[in-house]
Parts: sequence; structure tokens; C-alpha cells
Amino acid sequence: MSKYYQGKKVFITGGSAGIGKGIAIALAKSGASVMICARGKSNLDATVKELKSVGSPGAVFDYVVLDVSDKKQVQAAAKKVLKTLGGLDVLICNSGYAQAGEASDLQDHAFRKLMDVNFFGHLNVALAFQDHFRAQGKGDIIFLASTLAIFSVYGYGAYSASKFAISGFAQAFRQEMMLHNVKVKLFLPPTTNTPGLEKENEDKPPISKEMEMGSSLNKVHSIESVSKAILKWIPNRKFFGYTGWDSWLQYSLFKHFPEFTLKIADSELKAAQARLKKKNGSLK
Ligand SMILES: NC(=O)c1ccc[n+]([C@@H]2O[C@H](COP(=O)([O-])OP(=O)(O)OC[C@H]3O[C@@H](n4cnc5c(N)ncnc54)[C@H](OP(=O)(O)O)[C@@H]3O)[C@@H](O)[C@H]2O)c1
Repeated sequence: MSKYYQGKKVFITGGSAGIGKGIAIALAKSGASVMICARGKSNLDATVKELKSVGSPGAVFDYVVLDVSDKKQVQAAAKKVLKTLGGLDVLICNSGYAQAGEASDLQDHAFRKLMDVNFFGHLNVALAFQDHFRAQGKGDIIFLASTLAIFSVYGYGAYSASKFAISGFAQAFRQEMMLHNVKVKLFLPPTTNTPGLEKENEDKPPISKEMEMGSSLNKVHSIESVSKAILKWIPNRKFFGYTGWDSWLQYSLFKHFPEFTLKIADSELKAAQARLKKKNGSLK
């Protein structure tokens, strides 16, 4: 695995925290040059210091302050990344966030913002580097979506819509870039213990939390194990990437038995509803 990344030039969106930071550190340890982006400068500064402390002496580590939902900012940042790294081999579109809530409780703004960051953010970045990858005739473009990009449950309508969108786009883009010898792949992270998950849990509907607690298919993974799985999967030929038996089971069940999987989710929902009523006398 580490040989694949030795001397490679990598750009990771949202590399200052969570899974993106985990991937950046693992890549630096594997001999890659890494640039990251995020909106907050102080976490970027701290992460680049960390990358320098674990990375190869000749490698480049730097960042750009960037909101991926702003197309103009992304285009300017892409030029800076290509100049600083002197090219690009692997692009990892990781930035994103989850907001859970019943469709009737979320404002129109919440749906649009999730699409702006999770879908258009990935799209803006991929298109800003597309000409570079076509001209180069090789490279990897990686999109992080979610297991909720192929199957969804109570309270995740807005989030899943943004993740299903990137899954659809990635499948078409894979064929377009295949003709230029560039690999496009989609990773479906499982529930991972990140600052993003902590924030998501703050406003999760109680019944969604209860469903998760009672689900046999939901396990919280560490940043390190998810980053390791992503690095192992990037060089292989498979388009879909996932980690852990729980993600594999969710992916396989939904792919082969979609109606049955929906029924399992429905029985988990009903069991969660009954437990919540017993505990609180209501769903709140
Ligand atoms: N953690 C999970 O359980 C889980 C499960 C499935 C899928 N995922 C997906 O995996 C990816 C990483 O999630 P995570 O939990 O590691 O997130 P996280 O802990 O919240 O970290 C997100 C990173 O993205 C940056 N970011 C957020 N919005 C941005 C924007 N508009 N422009 C540029 N950078 C932005 C953040 O920095 P700033 O805030 O400073 O911009 C931070 O560096 C996301 O796409 C998420 O949807 C996560």
C-alpha cells in the first residue's frame, strides 16, 4: 500500500479534521506530498504542522483556505494547488457534513446548503481539476459519500439526497474519465467518530438515535480504521469502497435484497418507536 503513495501529490478537501485529516496523516506517513483545504485557518495551520512532523523530509505540505461550495474560490484554489505541488496524482473530495431532521422540520435552506456543500462542493472541485487529469492521462479522483448514499432511513432525507446525488454523478463521471485513463471512485464511509459526527448527534431526532442504538447494522468506527481502509482501496479496481462488516452488509443487502432491507429498517424503526414511548411516553 505505502509504495503506491510514495512521492504522490495529493489534494484533500476538508483535510483539517475528521476522516480527511486521518487520510492526510496516513498519506504523509506513506511518503506523499499533501495539500488540504477547509474554511477554518487555525485547524489547517495545526494539521499542516502535524503533517510536516510525520511526513518525508522532501515532501510538500501546505493548505488553501477554501469553501468548496464557492465555484470561483475553488477554481483559484485549484491553480494554487497545482503550482504548489507541481502537479496532482490523487484528488480526494472529502469535505461535507450531515444534518439530520425530519423533512417537515428542516427549512428549505437546510436542504439547499447540504446540496451546496456535499454535492456541488465535490462537483466544483472535480471540474476544477478535470482538465489537468485529462491532459495527464492518469490519476485518481475519489469522492467520499456515505452508506446513506445507497440506502436511507428516518431523519436523513436531506443528507441522503445530497449523497445520492454525488453517487449518481460519480458513476457517470467514472465513464467519462475512464476514456482518459483516469480512475473515478466512490467511498461509502460508515458512522465514524469525528467532530462532524459529534455535531450531527446534537440535533439528531430522538427516534433516529434510538434506531441507531438498536440497530444490528450500525457500529461507530475510528478515524484511523476508516482512513486505513480508504488508502488500501484507492489503488484497487473497485469503484465502490466501504469498510467494516457492517458497511459491507448494508451495501450487499441493499444491492441484492432492496425490499427486504427496507423491511428490516421498518422493523428497527417500529422497535425504536416502542422503546422511546416506553421510556418517555412520546417520540421526543
Ligand atoms: N463521520 C461520519 O460518521 C461520516 C459517515 C458517513 C459519511 N461521512 C462523510 O465523510 C466526510 C468527512 O466527514 P467527517 O465526519 O470527517 O467531517 P468533520 O469531522 O466535520 O470534518 C469535515 C472537514 O471538512 C471541512 N469542511 C466542511 N465544510 C467545508 C466547506 N464548505 N468547504 C471546505 N471545507 C469544509 C471542515 O473544516 P471547516 O469546518 O474548517 O471548513 C473539516 O476539515 C463528509 O463528506 C461526510 O459527509 C462521514
